[in-house]
Amino acid sequence: MPVIAVIGAQWGDEGKGKIIDLLAEKVNMVARFSGGNNAGHTVVNPYGEFAMHLVPSGIFYRHVTCVVGNGVVIDPAVLLEEIDQLKKRGVEVDKLFISDRAHLIMPYHILLDGLEEEARGGGAIGTTRKGIGPCYMDKVGRLGIRTGDLLQRDTFRDRLRSVLDYKNRILTRVYEAQPLSLEEIYDKYCRYGEQLAPFLRETDLMVEQALERGEMVLLEGAQGTMLDIDFGTYPYVTSTATMIGGACSGVGLSPVRIDRIYGVFKAYATRVGSGPMPTELFDDTAGLIRERAHEYGTTTGRPRRCGWFDAVVTRFSARVNGFCGACLTRLDILDTLPSIKICTGYRLNGEALTRPPSNSALLAKCEPLYEELDGWQTDISRLRHLEDLPPQARSYVRRLEELTDCPINIISVGPRREQTIVVKAIL
Ligand code: IMP
Repeated sequence: MPVIAVIGAQWGDEGKGKIIDLLAEKVNMVARFSGGNNAGHTVVNPYGEFAMHLVPSGIFYRHVTCVVGNGVVIDPAVLLEEIDQLKKRGVEVDKLFISDRAHLIMPYHILLDGLEEEARGGGAIGTTRKGIGPCYMDKVGRLGIRTGDLLQRDTFRDRLRSVLDYKNRILTRVYEAQPLSLEEIYDKYCRYGEQLAPFLRETDLMVEQALERGEMVLLEGAQGTMLDIDFGTYPYVTSTATMIGGACSGVGLSPVRIDRIYGVFKAYATRVGSGPMPTELFDDTAGLIRERAHEYGTTTGRPRRCGWFDAVVTRFSARVNGFCGACLTRLDILDTLPSIKICTGYRLNGEALTRPPSNSALLAKCEPLYEELDGWQTDISRLRHLEDLPPQARSYVRRLEELTDCPINIISVGPRREQTIVVKAIL
């Protein structure tokens, strides 16, 4: 039975939640491997509409075991609230498991995320201010506290004391902020520990055992390739590996166990936060896309920057991740446009480029080269077969496949599960 991964190909918010929700029906386990509550998936299903931040979207199926892997950073308040909301709305959470190696977002991470952003001034990254970056910094800096640590109260107190001592010095001396109280954090996190305890497991072992039983595992990506710490538009990125490599270290799985990797492409581009985005639009089309698609951050509510599909970016993502296919989302959003552009390359200082430069300042100077296709100006949200799509929409899909060198398996034409065209089944 295969392991399949689903990865965002742009700057996040590609609609991975809906794709995972669709595929989860046919798998036994969904495992999330990176990011934290900076992510937000909106899922619409028979239980209602949910804004999910940490719990994998597979939770809506009774037969699916959901794993939050060691690569995810966890704000326990957010996770427990999400679990509570799910329970209140009739969704069972007895098959949800959290890695005991996952790092915890602590109150000083959230505080420092805001203070560091203020200090960056005009160079601010536009983070979600949820403490993600500072938490990953502590993980790598060997100052982190992990979910499993909460169960060893004595050592947790000692660890917290020494870390907090250091953090308070930074808070007070660098940022002239108030120090945080050891006792308050300790008590609060001990309570979180009690509530999280039933969910904590050595989840890498659970994934391994599922594979030994011949079960199917779906690896759920968060954010997108252009926000990856190495291959994204550095430094305007998130602090983690959003690409396929992150899936291996983020759940504890060998790369040779992963059978297929699918990208998720939105039919146009969006980005939230700062950093270069060559195809960004500042005209009425951007506003039209934003309002039709409600392109506002699920986590922060910030309006997303909108632009044309950037095939340079998606081709790059397809290559660095090794996509064998893709899911194209939100094609219906383009329904009303008389013509649609696709960015096929960049021009930088008179030179044509076919891949994004690694330096963000150079990427910001790239001029997108466009190809213009006719729009279809028809409502496609009720269509369920590729051959029913208007010829202009089929041409658009075909051109994206050619330019990204990646076949499109699924086309999403609306938020609901059934608003999907399966070109070639993934499972
Ligand atoms: P952080 O992950 O909060 O540190 O934010 C770093 C950058 O990644 C900012 O530009 C955020 O807007 C962006 N970002 C983080 N998570 C997401 C996401 O789920 N979707 C889109 N952008 C995100």
